[in-house]
Amino acid sequence: MGTVPLEQKLRDKTAKIGIVGLGYVGLPLAVEFAGKGFNTLGIDVDRKKIEDINAGTNYIQDVSDEKLTKLTKEGMLEATTMYGRAGEMDVIYICVPTPFTPNKEPDITYINQAAKNISEHLRKEQLIILKSTTFPETTEKVVQPIMESTGLKVGQDFYLAFSPERIDPGRKDYTTATTPVIVGGVTKKCTMLAKLTNEQIIDKVVPVSSPREAEMAKLLENIFRSVNIALLNELAQLCDRMGNIDIWEVVEAAATKPFGFMPFYPGPGIGGHCILVDPYYLSWKAKEYDFHSDFIELAARTNENMPFYVMDLVIRSLSINGASLKSAKLLFLGVSFKKDVDDIRNSPALKLMDLLQHRGAQNITYNDPYVPNLKLDDHNYESYNLTDELIAEADCVIMTTAHTEYTKQVKNIVKHAKLIVDTRNITKDITAEPNKIVRLGSYK
Ligand SMILES: NC(=O)c1ccc[n+]([C@@H]2O[C@H](COP(=O)([O-])OP(=O)(O)OC[C@H]3O[C@@H](n4cnc5c(N)ncnc54)[C@H](O)[C@@H]3O)[C@@H](O)[C@H]2O)c1
Repeated sequence: MGTVPLEQKLRDKTAKIGIVGLGYVGLPLAVEFAGKGFNTLGIDVDRKKIEDINAGTNYIQDVSDEKLTKLTKEGMLEATTMYGRAGEMDVIYICVPTPFTPNKEPDITYINQAAKNISEHLRKEQLIILKSTTFPETTEKVVQPIMESTGLKVGQDFYLAFSPERIDPGRKDYTTATTPVIVGGVTKKCTMLAKLTNEQIIDKVVPVSSPREAEMAKLLENIFRSVNIALLNELAQLCDRMGNIDIWEVVEAAATKPFGFMPFYPGPGIGGHCILVDPYYLSWKAKEYDFHSDFIELAARTNENMPFYVMDLVIRSLSINGASLKSAKLLFLGVSFKKDVDDIRNSPALKLMDLLQHRGAQNITYNDPYVPNLKLDDHNYESYNLTDELIAEADCVIMTTAHTEYTKQVKNIVKHAKLIVDTRNITKDITAEPNKIVRLGSYK
């Protein structure tokens, strides 16, 4: 019997879906396919994650516990560390990390490794879709040669495409199904098959001419955010210096324009796996063409300076209140990089903690309802319960993440605090005694 074409398997839903890398991107994707009736296998190098999934235990906030348990019980979703099973799959998504090196250069070793492991089991009529964010040409110049080293030819024997992820952890209004995605295949047939695959779980799939446009589009989306946040971070510092304009009110006012403006907000810096990291992937690639991307560099410089700026703000605010950094008790509220999520990767709160510690702060504690403990510079921290006493004991409460819980309790936090440095405008509607609240970019 000849090989059944992938298109047919997708149309009659007998295609087997493989997901390599079961993190924030991979696990929700696997759950989505399994939920739509596709036999789905996750492959990860992390044994703990594999054990958890096979036991029906969820570890990603956006995935429903019940759904995961049900799908594993039914045998629709399974996980393994064994790449040997990649050959059983008809479609394989690659969702591995793409961090940067300490010198801020792209680190694509995870993509390389995953592609090599898959290539050892590559067979005819398989489709490989790279989802990890990366610089243009990765799909064709890094992944394709690894796959073709097997003797199989892209577009004829197997198919290859890039389709970037747009998941926004913690977001409720747009789900995997309702967030459009882009696909760019190496050949027309690769694009067609990658589109058809994505359409099984996503309402709108937008094809582009090649993987390069798809790779660049993903970077554009994140650089757009980085540049606009940087602009607001710069304006927040200007407002601080002028001392009589509230940047937060300015943004809200500008946002009443119904066209041509989109609100972005200042903060203690940017973090996470995307906005901070991805711009460097493009600026690195640009240099190969003797091209220096000034917008990217300037935005990165402005955003990465913010924790240093906030550190100065904390030290200044303490001294105005007659306290010194060395003896002060500092309480951080929120250590994850954004509101209502548990992700602390590259979090500006951690950077700020680290900076203050190196400047002499000896008594740092934190509360974060999503992060029970963390390790920083070989030091283990545990989240303290947010009690009135904890707040009252602190010489400075530093609000670094706008978790909903803090917004709800803000009146009480202000009531008990001696001094607050608010980098997220959580205290916007609160009036307090002079010098009690120092709000980034605001004189009020
Ligand atoms: N997290 C987000 O919100 C988000 C959004 C859009 C795009 N992205 C991009 O998606 C990619 C994945 O990000 P993430 O947040 O899911 O990362 P993650 O760290 O949460 O998950 C990656 C997983 O890959 C596994 N892994 C590493 N090497 C492997 C290998 N050789 N074989 C199999 N598994 C391997 C890790 O153990 C981990 O479980 C990155 O390129 C990221 O930039 C992330």
